[in-house]
Amino acid sequence: MAGLQGKKILFGVSGSIAAYKAAEWVRELVREEAVVTVIMTAAAERFVSSLTFAALSGNPVHLDMFDTDSERIMAHINLSREADAMLIAPATAQTLARLASGIAEDLLATVALAARIPIVVCPAMNSAMLAHPAVQENISRVCRFGYHVVHSTSGSLACGEIGDGRLTDWESTRETLLALFQPDDLCGRQVVITAGPTREPLDPVRFLSNRSSGKMGFALARTARRRGAQVTLITGPVSLANPPGVDVIRVSTAEEMAQAVFGCAPRADVIVKSAAVADFKPIAFSEHKLKKKTQGLQLDLEKNIDILAELGRKRPPRQLLVGFAAESREHASEGRRKLVEKNLDLIVVNDILGPQTGFEVETNQVILIDRKGHVELPLLSKEATAHRIWDAVVTLLPAVSVSPQEYSSGNRDPGCA
Ligand code: CTP
Repeated sequence: MAGLQGKKILFGVSGSIAAYKAAEWVRELVREEAVVTVIMTAAAERFVSSLTFAALSGNPVHLDMFDTDSERIMAHINLSREADAMLIAPATAQTLARLASGIAEDLLATVALAARIPIVVCPAMNSAMLAHPAVQENISRVCRFGYHVVHSTSGSLACGEIGDGRLTDWESTRETLLALFQPDDLCGRQVVITAGPTREPLDPVRFLSNRSSGKMGFALARTARRRGAQVTLITGPVSLANPPGVDVIRVSTAEEMAQAVFGCAPRADVIVKSAAVADFKPIAFSEHKLKKKTQGLQLDLEKNIDILAELGRKRPPRQLLVGFAAESREHASEGRRKLVEKNLDLIVVNDILGPQTGFEVETNQVILIDRKGHVELPLLSKEATAHRIWDAVVTLLPAVSVSPQEYSSGNRDPGCA
């Protein structure tokens, strides 16, 4: 499934110093091949020139409600009819007040009022203004109207104060936009995903580990979140940033991963174990660095707990269990063996030797095996592979009954909690 490529985004900019960040966001959208049309309030134009937005978006900027240009005469109606989503960033206290009370005083607020498309709102202002009950009430109101609010963050503000009110980051906003275009077929599901390698320490400087980058597990977490799941990601040591809206638990050893997984498992509707857990660990940990003057070195290893097999033994009846199998040969038969032995519903088999399917790369080519058969997927990005895995999970989920009450507890909008 594509990202924001080809999506028509109507981008409303209101008058805050953070308007300069909106210029960067327009650039990001265009880089991703989205089609961007900008509307600016009069106050926004005091901060950043409309020429900047016109140049970055490659499209004329809309400023005036009462434009007599024949093509723009019904802009307040037509602009949103031609778009897939509207993004208002930064949204000032003034703009929020207009949105919350339906005051159609400028082009931006009028377009929002006439829009039948999803609207994402990113507030930004001084922290005292943000804390005022009037602003808080306005944010709550626009949430109730169904707007998707991506809340501001804490940090140093343009006014010199430190506090809440900074415009959120592009990553979080992008996630919210992407979620608008995904099915919400995991809405209300509690999903636990493991990712990355584990490290089994030998001495204070050395450990046994493997080449897993965690990219597949993180792609699974991001895409599950976009499809409405409540996601907990338990990851070994990797250099990837936390996906927005996902609870991340960082662990190091297989033992720590096991504790974290067993702690979350009872509440999970779906568990996906994409982590490359070390099968063995050193029996003894040397408190001091092992010296090379030692003549030869023999490592005594013992087996780590097989977390997935343990989950398979203890799984509650309604829980769906998905494993991974990293194989270099006999992929399908090895995958099927692990599916049965570990009592899984689905296993994702990948070839660790292929140049585009092994560790650290952005792509993957997997076989999905369930109790009824298997499907070989083409070479895809890890995100596209993750979506295909969720498609398969969703088809298996109806067999697992979740009450409507549990379903409705889900909220896939990370901003509007
Ligand atoms: N797994 C696990 N705990 C372990 C080892 C593996 O939970 N100690 C999980 C992995 O997360 C993966 C699945 O088991 O989902 C299969 O892992 P893999 O390394 O392919 O297979 P192993 O079970 O370790 O078997 P083998 O080494 O014989 O291939």
